[in-house]
Amino acid sequence: MRTDLAAPVGLVSALPYNRAGAALRREIAWLQHRADPAVSPAPREPIPPEHDPAFEALSFYIIADQRVVSYAAVVYITIRHAGEPLTAAGLSCVATDPAYRRHGLGSLVVAAATRSILDSTVDLGLFTCDPPLTPFYERAGGWQVVPDVVLLGNQRPDALTSVGLGKAVLMRLVSNRAQRMAPALEHAVIDLNLPPGQFV
Ligand SMILES: CC(C)(COP(=O)(O)OP(=O)(O)OC[C@H]1O[C@@H](n2cnc3c(N)ncnc32)[C@H](O)[C@@H]1OP(=O)(O)O)[C@@H](O)C(=O)NCCC(=O)NCCS
Repeated sequence: MRTDLAAPVGLVSALPYNRAGAALRREIAWLQHRADPAVSPAPREPIPPEHDPAFEALSFYIIADQRVVSYAAVVYITIRHAGEPLTAAGLSCVATDPAYRRHGLGSLVVAAATRSILDSTVDLGLFTCDPPLTPFYERAGGWQVVPDVVLLGNQRPDALTSVGLGKAVLMRLVSNRAQRMAPALEHAVIDLNLPPGQFV
């Protein structure tokens, strides 16, 4: 068990999103809206799922004043690379309420979500972020940019890509198998095998 990413016990709660009740889902949806209204319009009832159920998202969240004020999810996918099936986990929907920013809450949920990835059986940690946020992910979770990796949403001609979206790719080789495959993973185009329009 790694202890270097420990968050204060009790501050960060965790739950599989697929098991989250309606009130928590509503809170998560409203937080996403407050954090980035341009990307997440005000949610309407019934609240649509924040994560595709197939991704088996794990939610990490902090509650203050009876609201979810900081959030990070871990989503799980299976990819095929260099002829090998690999399981990958990535951070998704990371957000802090504007009124609570720069108090370390985003770092706490990212650290807890990252720790769950490193303690799991997945082969890879893999996701993208806007380039200005790479120092935030590096400090909060030890995530490194892999400049020679390009992610493709899928093999379709109109697929979303990390280059097209202007995103930085962050990756961790978690399992021994992934570490043995490092040469094939660290300078690569990786197909995420996602449904059209989806990305991590
Ligand atoms: C990114 C975000 C989650 C950070 O949440 P937060 O709770 O304010 O984060 P922290 O307080 O833990 O920040 C820790 C450090 O990360 C860096 N950081 C935080 N927000 C940053 C930002 N928007 N841009 C660049 N660096 C940032 C800072 O160095 C900060 O330390 P400091 O406050 O001492 O300068 C929040 O700004 C947010 O919700 N943004 C909108 C949604 C978004 O962009 N999500 C990420 C999608 S990939």
